[in-house]
Amino acid sequence: VSEPLCFINGDFIPASQAMVPVHDLGVQRGYCIFDFLRVTQNVPLFCNDHLERFYRSAKEMRLTLKQSKEELKTVIGQLIQKNQLPDSGIRILLSGGASPDGYQLVQPALAIIQQPLTPPADEIYQNGYTLVTYPHQRQIPHVKTTDYLMAIWLQPWMKGKGGDDILYQQNGIVSECPRSNFFIVTQSNTIVTPARNILKGITRKQLLEIAAANGFAMEERDISIDDIRRAKEAFIGSSTKRVIPVNRVDDIEFGPCKDDSVTSRLYDLFFQKEKQAIHDAS
Ligand SMILES: Cc1ncc(COP(=O)(O)O)c(C=O)c1O
Repeated sequence: VSEPLCFINGDFIPASQAMVPVHDLGVQRGYCIFDFLRVTQNVPLFCNDHLERFYRSAKEMRLTLKQSKEELKTVIGQLIQKNQLPDSGIRILLSGGASPDGYQLVQPALAIIQQPLTPPADEIYQNGYTLVTYPHQRQIPHVKTTDYLMAIWLQPWMKGKGGDDILYQQNGIVSECPRSNFFIVTQSNTIVTPARNILKGITRKQLLEIAAANGFAMEERDISIDDIRRAKEAFIGSSTKRVIPVNRVDDIEFGPCKDDSVTSRLYDLFFQKEKQAIHDAS
């Protein structure tokens, strides 16, 4: 195929021909949810988890899908087969639909698109990310909405501060990065990640399971800036990035990732789990 196909409102069509009406509530009012999963060696990773979260987001936002989870899973499989983009990302979008008055919800519009994905450069996993905190709380944080207004608007500011990513905080309590969950490792090797005011990432879920299965102590609770100051390590996790060490948060320095660190061990365990998922699917 010369260009990827996408699945839009029930049909597979070339991506360049896939259109959304200007009356769509996603366009007009930002009323849209999505999910994003990574495809590796043509395997949609943790697909069931992503679909579960997608249907949960849809329900929370009063958007009713015509298709069942199983049907969408079949469509994702067909898209992967047709497009042959072995290392890519799949984005499942669901918007409020083309509303005559631009305000009332109508039949939602569904689009599933697949695009090549470039993984972070190898040295990132060694050198880590510099995070800059910013006072913000995502609205309806437990739902994966397409609202990234603040994150995109802050990009020039963030770069000016020498940051690789933003860490949202409110009154000194941090929540998450715009596209990843945040974790610290305490001096006693406990992994801590916020429990509220966040989107519960699929990578976060996998890491919690990995931690439990491998005897790591793990807590889901608020993290203050002072907790970060006292921490031994910090890292972020997301579907596109896996586990990326954090080398600095504002003026708090962690430095590059060490081979015997908890972050590095979690990365290895996560990578193994991913390999197992690919093996199980093939
Ligand atoms: C706000 C937010 N938090 C966390 C995450 C990480 O979630 P996942 O591990 O499912 O990619 C994302 C992913 O894009 C996100 O948008």
